[in-house]
Amino acid sequence: MEVIRAADYDELSVCAAEMIIQTLKSKNDAVLGLATGSTPIGTYKRLIEAYRQGRVSFAAAKSINLDEYVGLGENDPNSYRRFMNDMFFNNIDIDVRNTYVPDGLNKNIQQECMRYDMLYKRLGGADIQLLGIGVNAHIGFNEPADKLVAATHVVKLSQSTRMANSRNFASAQAVPEYAVTLGMAGILKAKKIVLLASGEAKREAVAKAVYGDIDTHAPASFLQLHDNVTVICDFCLAK
Ligand code: F6R
Repeated sequence: MEVIRAADYDELSVCAAEMIIQTLKSKNDAVLGLATGSTPIGTYKRLIEAYRQGRVSFAAAKSINLDEYVGLGENDPNSYRRFMNDMFFNNIDIDVRNTYVPDGLNKNIQQECMRYDMLYKRLGGADIQLLGIGVNAHIGFNEPADKLVAATHVVKLSQSTRMANSRNFASAQAVPEYAVTLGMAGILKAKKIVLLASGEAKREAVAKAVYGDIDTHAPASFLQLHDNVTVICDFCLAK
């Protein structure tokens, strides 16, 4: 695993954005695996800037997101579909019909998981997968557990994740209890993985991912099994 120490959040964002730009320069119809949360916001801002400067086009690209809350759809300001539209897709030239986020409103959520896996397979997996990391070392919403799941699945969010994600909700209790997430196989199928971590609170999780035992209680540690992972963090990993 390559670890890049960025001086600050802005440098981290520029670095991640440049990796995506490089991917699109070598393959204009690349499949971008995208994440939500606070960490990639700067990356999306930098990509929007690059698009406005004419340095990159997303016209032929496709994107597939990691996850969505069960019960939330595009009209809900806290849905991940809405986040992606507002923070990224509506500000670049991507065809929104080529952007995929699990449908949290599908009444048959198991069917939605199967549909999403088939879609992912049809797209051939991501050429580059952007990941954040939870303080509990989750990736996507693959939460620490005795067993991890390979396929797209419904997951019960841990209390720590609901707490961490409660920023825009009225309270942690208002954060949906369940989410649909790409499973470990989907994430590991990406040709290149870029994991972003900002702030000291993520240090322990990143250390487990990079140096720890491969452990289902630290899902990010499975990234050690992939041969093209870059971790970009804005803190020093060594204690
Ligand atoms: C988001 C996702 C999550 C977040 C993680 C970190 O699509 O899959 O794994 O990347 O919870 O979130 P932030 O960046 O808000 O700290």
